[in-house]
Formats: sequence, C-alpha cells, structure tokens
Amino acid sequence: MSHKKVAILISGGGSNMVSLVESMTGDHPARPCLVLSNNADAGGLKKAAAAGIATAVVDHRPFKGDREAFESELVKPILEAGADIVCLAGFMRVLTAGFVSQFQGRMLNIHPSLLPKYKGLHTHARALEAGDAEHGCTVHEVTPALDDGPILGQARVPILAGDTPDDLAARVLVKEHLLYPAVLRRYAAGDRTPILMD
Ligand code: GAR
Repeated sequence: MSHKKVAILISGGGSNMVSLVESMTGDHPARPCLVLSNNADAGGLKKAAAAGIATAVVDHRPFKGDREAFESELVKPILEAGADIVCLAGFMRVLTAGFVSQFQGRMLNIHPSLLPKYKGLHTHARALEAGDAEHGCTVHEVTPALDDGPILGQARVPILAGDTPDDLAARVLVKEHLLYPAVLRRYAAGDRTPILMD
C-alpha cells in the first residue's frame, strides 16, 4: 500500500503534531513526511526530530509582513517533501488565498472553538465572556477565508463554574488530541464524513 504523505505545520509546542505523528502507524493510510515551522524555537521541532521526521524552518520575520514572499519560501520544503496532505497544527500565521489554493482540498486545520463561533484568536476567553455552557474544537478543510472551510469534525467540552481561559484550553486540548488524528485517518482514506465527539 502506498501511504499518503503528510506535512505538519506548527508554530509552538506541537502537541497536536505529536498526536498526529503517533497515530500514523500500522494500517493508517498516511505517514508524516515533514514538520515545518515558522519559528525556529518551536518546541515541536525537537519532538519531531526525535521521532525521526524531517524538519524545516522558514522564519516569517525577515519578510516583514510580506506574506506572499514568506509563503513562496514556505511552500518549497512542502513540495520537496512531496506532501499529499498538509495539516496545520497550531500554525499561527494567516495564509493567503494564493498559498491556500495550491493545497485546496488537501489542507486541514484544527481550531480551538466550535466553529463557526470564535474564529481567530483568544477563543477560550471569548467563550467564557459569552457565558457559553460548552466549548470545543473543530477540524476543518482550509479555504481562503480564515477558519471558515468545510467542517470535518468537532469535539465538545463543558464549561464549568470558575473556569479560567487556561482551564478551558487544557480541557479542549485533550479533545484536540483525539479529534485531529481521527479526522486525519478518515480524510487520508478519502472519507470526509464529519466526526462528532462529546
Ligand atoms: C492548539 O490549541 C490549536 O488548536 C491552536 O493552537 C494550539 C496549538 O497547540 N490553534 C490555533 O489557535 C489556530 N488559530 P500545540 O502546538 O500544542 O498543538
């Protein structure tokens, strides 16, 4: 069986990346081919290297806000690795339509809210401020509009009295680590039926 190759883009600790990497064994239809970061200090890079996965860094800072110039470098290691699927996993740069269109229908993102609620940043604080009873995470296909593509899976958590944004983030992250591998496994097999988890 020929496996689908997955490039994973990170900016930080990479706990979602690790959960994806650990899932891609045995009869899984995909294997990791690259972990790529815009931040040389991202803790996830060492974890990926320790797992024997090729890593690369394209720092966005020298491009001084020129997103297209940054992305023209960012795309190179992804193409060189021959990635079939791109997973954004805590990748904290907004991508242009030009970049996204190169991976249309084969790029996924995990977002820490129950989309379409709370696109963008500070999702946990926003859910608390709104007085919501529940919160969660979403895996979706990436389209040019931010945090807006077709939903491939959602997992919910309760919001409890006295929760801080950090409490909520930690509760959601546990679900992220279950949801993203489950969605990727299906997606790599060509199945886009959404996965709904409690
Ligand atoms: C995760 O909670 C992920 O959902 C979020 O960043 C965290 C990364 O953690 N992503 C976004 O906010 C995307 N806008 P990780 O590096 O440990 O996977």
